[in-house]
Amino acid sequence: MAKLIYSAITSLDGYVADRDGNFDWAAPDEEVHAFVNDLERPIGTYLLGRRMYEVMGFWETPQAVEDQPPVMHDYAGIWRAADKVVYSGTLERASTDRTRIERAFDPEAVRMMKAAADRDLSVGGPTLAAQAIKAGLVDEYHLFLTPVLVGGGNPAFPDGVRQGLELLEERRFGSGVVHLHYRTKV
Ligand SMILES: NC(=O)c1ccc[n+]([C@@H]2O[C@H](COP(=O)([O-])OP(=O)(O)OC[C@H]3O[C@@H](n4cnc5c(N)ncnc54)[C@H](OP(=O)(O)O)[C@@H]3O)[C@@H](O)[C@H]2O)c1
Repeated sequence: MAKLIYSAITSLDGYVADRDGNFDWAAPDEEVHAFVNDLERPIGTYLLGRRMYEVMGFWETPQAVEDQPPVMHDYAGIWRAADKVVYSGTLERASTDRTRIERAFDPEAVRMMKAAADRDLSVGGPTLAAQAIKAGLVDEYHLFLTPVLVGGGNPAFPDGVRQGLELLEERRFGSGVVHLHYRTKV
């Protein structure tokens, strides 16, 4: 069975965006970006909340990374090669290739996607990920803790979930970012 993976770049106090919606402090440097690229490369399908999808749409256009470093070109290729499922009640049409829209989050449908997939899946956007976490569908977590406290905003994790985790790997980067890789304990 393929795994469902939740990855998030967060502040040390656990937010993916601050109270003003900013997440410029989360932008990975080239060292972290290269590491993230290698984690994302094997993923076959991204499950995305509509908000995260709109941010990630940046990667669809080759011109967006034209003058950018090789890690960004690499990631643009990884993004374009993956299938995307966008969850949204409002999006009329997808603006990217290999994309389908789902109007509701059905845990059983995701269970079936995991069972049928030959490559792992990821879930992104904390509002959407919260539903997968609560349904017990997330197998692994990759957290990138950024050395900043932002004091509030959009939390990476929902309230009301208790889940034991096993640490699989950790890594420290030059920027002070720390990567933590956990597996869900059954
Ligand atoms: N730290 C970083 O590196 C980083 C990078 C990128 C983005 N961000 C931040 O990440 C955040 C994005 O996550 P988010 O939690 O705001 O939103 P999200 O989970 O990406 O998207 C939420 C949207 O997904 C749709 N959705 C969620 N559950 C659904 C369901 N059960 N059925 C149908 N549609 C559903 C809804 O879209 P509709 O409203 O269309 O119905 C909802 O408004 C933003 O704060 C962004 O600034 C951070």
